[in-house]
Parts: sequence; C-alpha cells; structure tokens
Amino acid sequence: MTAGRSNPLSGSLKPPGDKSISHRALIFGLLAKGVTPVEGLLEGDDVLRTAAACRALGAKVERLGEGKWRVEGAGLGSLLAPKDVLDFGNAGTGTRLMMGVVGGHAIKATFDGDASLRKRPMRRILDPLVQMGVDVISETEGGRCPITIQGTGEPAPIEYCSPVASAQLKSAILLAGLNSSGRTCVIESEASRDHTEKMLSYFGAKVHIEKQGAHGRKITLEGRPTLTAREVIVPADPSSAAFPLVAALLVPGSNVTIIGMMMNPLRIGLLTTLQEMGAHIEITNPRIEGGEDVADLRVRASQLKGVDVPADRAPSMIDEYPVLAVAAAFAQGETRMRGLSELRVKESDRLAAVAAGLAVNGVDYAIEGDDLIVQGAGNVQGGGTVETHLDHRIAMSFLIMGLASDNPVTIDDAAMIATSFPTFRPALEKLGATFS
Ligand code: S3P
Repeated sequence: MTAGRSNPLSGSLKPPGDKSISHRALIFGLLAKGVTPVEGLLEGDDVLRTAAACRALGAKVERLGEGKWRVEGAGLGSLLAPKDVLDFGNAGTGTRLMMGVVGGHAIKATFDGDASLRKRPMRRILDPLVQMGVDVISETEGGRCPITIQGTGEPAPIEYCSPVASAQLKSAILLAGLNSSGRTCVIESEASRDHTEKMLSYFGAKVHIEKQGAHGRKITLEGRPTLTAREVIVPADPSSAAFPLVAALLVPGSNVTIIGMMMNPLRIGLLTTLQEMGAHIEITNPRIEGGEDVADLRVRASQLKGVDVPADRAPSMIDEYPVLAVAAAFAQGETRMRGLSELRVKESDRLAAVAAGLAVNGVDYAIEGDDLIVQGAGNVQGGGTVETHLDHRIAMSFLIMGLASDNPVTIDDAAMIATSFPTFRPALEKLGATFS
C-alpha cells in the first residue's frame, strides 16, 4: 500500500473502540456471572481472537450488530478446559491477559500465535504465575509461544514488584489472583494503564490502589470476589486516534475533528507531547462515557518543533512512539525520545523498524542506548518502501508519513492494520487522504 501527498484533510472521524478495553470487556464478561452487554467493541482481529478464546473457555459470546456484543459468562472458578490450542494471532495483550485467567483455574491450555507473537517474551508473565502455583508444561526456547500451562484452582496470593512498566504483566497477575483465597498485590514503579483495575472495581471486586514513589502504584486485590455482569461501553482508542491526529497536523491546511477520544491520563502522553511541540489541538466537549473521560479534539495543521520526551512519560504513550517519530521528522529541530527499551519487544522490534523506516525515507536519526533522536527538517523526502514486520503500528505510521512527504511512501504489507484499526483506509480516505 502506498500513501501520497494529500490535499488538506477535513471533516470528522470517530476512531474505533479501544483495543485494551475491548479485550478486557470480553474477559470480564467471561469471568462474571450473568450477561455482559458490550457497546463499541473494536472488531479488529486481535479482539476477535480473544472472543474466540472466551468461547473456548466456556462463555457464550455473540455479535448482535456493529460493535454490539453480548457475553454470557462461564463465571470465575467455572471455566472449561479448551479443547484446542488458543490461537491469539498477532495479539500480545489477549495472550498475556488470558495466561493470567487460565493460570488461576485448574485447567490446561496451550497458547500460540503468528510469527510476530512467537517472538515475544512471555517469561515475564510465566515467572509470577509460577510463583502463584502454575505449572509451565512446555515452552519454546526463551519463554516464547507455543506455551502450555497447567493452571491452579488455588492460586497463591503474592506480592509482586513488576520489573517493567507493563499493564499486560500487571493484568495477568491480577486476573490470576482473582481466584486466590488471599490478597494479590502488584507494585509498579511507573504507573501503566489502569483499565484492569477500573474494570475489576466496576464488576464488583475490591481493589485498593496506593501511590508508590513519584510515579508508581501499589495495587491490592481481594481474591474470590463475586463478579457481577454489567454493561461495558468502549470509548474510542487514543492509540488509533493518534494516526488521523498526526496526519491532520502534518498535511498542510488540514482541519479535522476527532470524536469521543478516550482521555484517560495514563493513555494521553502523545497529546501532551504534541502540545509541547506546538500542535494546534483544541480539546472540546469533555465528558464521561463508560466510566472513562472522553473529549472531541479539533486538530489543525501545525508547524511542530522538536522536544525532549522524558522517559517517565513512556508508559502513557508506549504504542505512539512510531507515529511520534514520524511527526518529529516533519518538525523543526531535534526530538529526543527517552527510555524506549520496551519498544524492542512489541509486535516487532519497533525501535529498529522505526529507524529503518526513517532511514529509507531520508530522515536523519540516531539511537543512543534506549533513546531515539530524530532530526526534524520541516519536510521529509519520502520515496522509500518500509518493512512492517507484521506490525500494524509501523504500517499505519509510515502511511501517515507518505501523506505529507515530498514523495510517496510505500509499506510492504498492510494486512496487519486489521488487527487494531480495520477501517483505517476508508476512514482516512473520507478525510481526503490518498492511498493506492
Ligand atoms: C496493553 C499494554 C501495553 C500496550 C499494548 C496494550 C494493554 O503493553 O503496548 O498495546 O492492553 O494492557 P505492555 O503492558 O506490555 O507495555
């Protein structure tokens, strides 16, 4: 797929449902008693894999209409052993959260996925689960999928200091701890997205959250709650909104409104960064939808300037660095993005993939340790073909680059975009973007 220089983008766009909340809505539906209606579910491949896994574990999961789903739970403690391998495709979140769920039940399951998922580190999830009493029956070298685990119906309550700022890791432990007769505690030195904690409380579990140091949190969950089914309304995904948002900033003359974007403070580091870079973004109509802050964003094309992005902001914008690197390439001056080690273990090695994409399109950059430094020149030559390595966010980021660069930008494979933003192409074309 190729993106070429576009006329000004205009109009409004509602990004798809949040991927993190969509996975969790289905998983909590599986664990709750009763029927969980879901509104605005992201119907991307990643989430559909989680829906299939919920079915395999005993839930009745039905699609009623666009984004409208219904989950009839198997109930905490009453999951079925899946008959087949749980195939999560490209989805790290689905895999890791479900390893926690299975780990807290006396059932055996095998987890697998595509070539990208098979490269991702799962040892970070298996280590705490083993402490809780889970048996790792088989794993591929280095703690990779395919992995078979035997869960326990009596998970030991643990206190776990997370070695990485990862909501997936935190969530796996808490989900396993749900079926423990004691208290499960996770300490993170940098707060990561809190959707699991919020949903635990919303479904009736007792969760206690304390501040820990300057940026961290200690989360304590009381085991064996009664989880009662409740409706989940999924707000628009800020990580998907990032693409039209940056496109509107970069394509001269653009004026675009993004509707209903989730404004959870642990998810909007990109917005803060772009504002520091001089982006014209007007935040209007703030409201609460489905328990989350949301707002509309009016975005106008802006000449950005380079900034220094602190490492402690990384958890709140971890998925947005590829598209920020693209924005930085069009800015005036240097942008330094600090502390990006976790980017190396996403759907691809995103640090390497971003660097290669910048290089092939004539952008000057450097990697120093875990920092990415992009030299913005105000414009980008483009003309390159970018290898996406089965990574949806690499694919979308470089297509956004092509909308504003001097020459078109091509990506080798657009298929993975369907994992998180299946309507990406028509939604951006409706604003005036040109793809071929
Ligand atoms: C997610 C957490 C993040 C993020 C991923 C979704 C989640 O991963 O990159 O896209 O829903 O919990 P880590 O927790 O591994 O940083």
